[in-house]
Amino acid sequence: MQIKTATFYKSSSKTKECPTLDFPEFVFIGRSNVGKSSLINMITNNKKLAKISGKPGKTLLINHYLINKEFFLIDLPGYGYSKISKKEQKKIDFLISDFFDNRKIRLLFILVDIRHEVQNIDYNFIKNISKNGINFIIIFTKADKLKTSAQNEKVKNYLNFINSEIKFEPKFIISSSKLKLGKKEILKHFFF
Ligand code: GTP
Ligand code: MG
Repeated sequence: MQIKTATFYKSSSKTKECPTLDFPEFVFIGRSNVGKSSLINMITNNKKLAKISGKPGKTLLINHYLINKEFFLIDLPGYGYSKISKKEQKKIDFLISDFFDNRKIRLLFILVDIRHEVQNIDYNFIKNISKNGINFIIIFTKADKLKTSAQNEKVKNYLNFINSEIKFEPKFIISSSKLKLGKKEILKHFFF
């Protein structure tokens, strides 16, 4: 798969407002600041497509990006950002669950920071998603922050931990937006 065109299509504050076009949807989700927007820019080769910020909580809307005029990449708001009010957090949680309840998702990329141990919020999310039969791949982000041996160790421990609950070996990709690592592996999954 080659990305020839990537354009911003629409921001929606509710699932109801999402595009009515019946194009396959490839969705990126994860904790705030994990690198979702950076990853979308990396794979589309466009530094300015999705807004990036050192400050967590930048993406508060459902953002649709149209790729090759045939499918959507979707940047969802990050979950688990503790510095916003409980009310705002609830709003984002509802936005995300409403999205999963009402959209037909072709494939979900769940992003986790490769440096971190399994976080409850990711663990619960992964459990729910696998129960609901949504096809997902885990992307370990910011691999440039660790040496290869430490990367492998972190990934092994992460998968071991979640395997106690999920009865299958989830697919995973190691990525770095900084080094453009994992791009080819991600692009391979955009087929329909
Ligand atoms: P929200 O929109 O707040 O949910 O964040 P996000 O998940 O979209 O993260 P974003 O892409 O905005 O990146 C957050 C911070 O991490 C920024 O300072 C990025 O420059 C940095 N970052 C993202 N990807 C990488 C990476 O692969 N390596 C390194 N070293 N930094 C990264
Ligand atoms: Mg973002």
